Amino acid sequence: MTVTHIAVIGSGTMGRQIGMACAVAGITATVQDISADAVDAARDDMDTWLDGRVTKGRLTAEDAASARSRITFTTSLEDAVGHADLVIEAATEKLDIKRSIFTRLDALAPDHAILATNSSTYGSSAVADATGRPDKVCNMHFFNPALVMKAVEIVRNPQTSDDTVAAVTAVVEALGKKPVLLAKETPGFVANRLLNAVRTEALKLYGSGVASVEDIDTAATAALGYPMGPFALMDLVGIDVTYDIRQASYEMTGDPAELPHPLLVEKYSSGDYGRKTGKGWYSYDD
Ligand code: CAA
Repeated sequence: MTVTHIAVIGSGTMGRQIGMACAVAGITATVQDISADAVDAARDDMDTWLDGRVTKGRLTAEDAASARSRITFTTSLEDAVGHADLVIEAATEKLDIKRSIFTRLDALAPDHAILATNSSTYGSSAVADATGRPDKVCNMHFFNPALVMKAVEIVRNPQTSDDTVAAVTAVVEALGKKPVLLAKETPGFVANRLLNAVRTEALKLYGSGVASVEDIDTAATAALGYPMGPFALMDLVGIDVTYDIRQASYEMTGDPAELPHPLLVEKYSSGDYGRKTGKGWYSYDD
């Protein structure tokens, strides 16, 4: 199956950038959200980003206009998915909400459409049985910022068909990204498991007074060549998202080693979620 029209459900940080990445790659995209304000914010963000790409010389004005013409924003789920070959759900990480979205997607999307979730927390088997097409359900896990990061994890659930994996792999490649295929579901998938190992050590080092947040991040960037240190990355991804991933891993495995570190719990409880709230491990002016 060739995917020419993608619907993205959720216009937050991830959803809007996944939609923009599709439009820039030449794929028709519709981004849907229940809130008109959220949809307007996503559209404004896209306009600002495309203008910036043109100013920076990364895109021609014609290519930016053409990307703009390929993407629409809507609050109607029916309009968003009615002609979609692939739906990527990037809504809130609440399982009951995701399950009800997948039931509605199953009713509204064409029979051939693949229904993927961008969840970093839940394997798609947690939503596949809310549809009548579990063979066409999988995870497509993008990384933040989705316009920049070059990998997408494709995670099979026990019922995902080879055709579904082949179709989403082709989409990932068409987006100019590298597919990372997981043959089975595991909490945290691959990249977040690697990241968690570094993050846990960083929190332990800071918590035991060995080094400051800034110095630990400097060790990661200047000594190890990471693009950004673990604390700066938590602020980028969101302290809430980071906390939720750990908490869900614990709930899925029952392994106390998966519990969020007490310093992460403290930061989460303070409501300082990182860049999105203007304060996390660091402070942000805008
Ligand atoms: N949105 C879109 N584009 C962005 C961006 C954003 N939020 N932030 C940076 N960019 C773009 C810039 O426009 C710039 O593009 P050009 O070079 O083409 O002009 C490029 O990225 C580099 O940006 P900067 O020069 O401003 O800054 P940088 O070199 O420090 O890069 C970064 C910023 C790309 C975020 C880099 O620090 C990085 O790769 N950090 C690691 C990010 C990471 O690990 N992400 C995965 C998180 S885990 C996750 O997402 C999974 C999950 O389940 C939570």
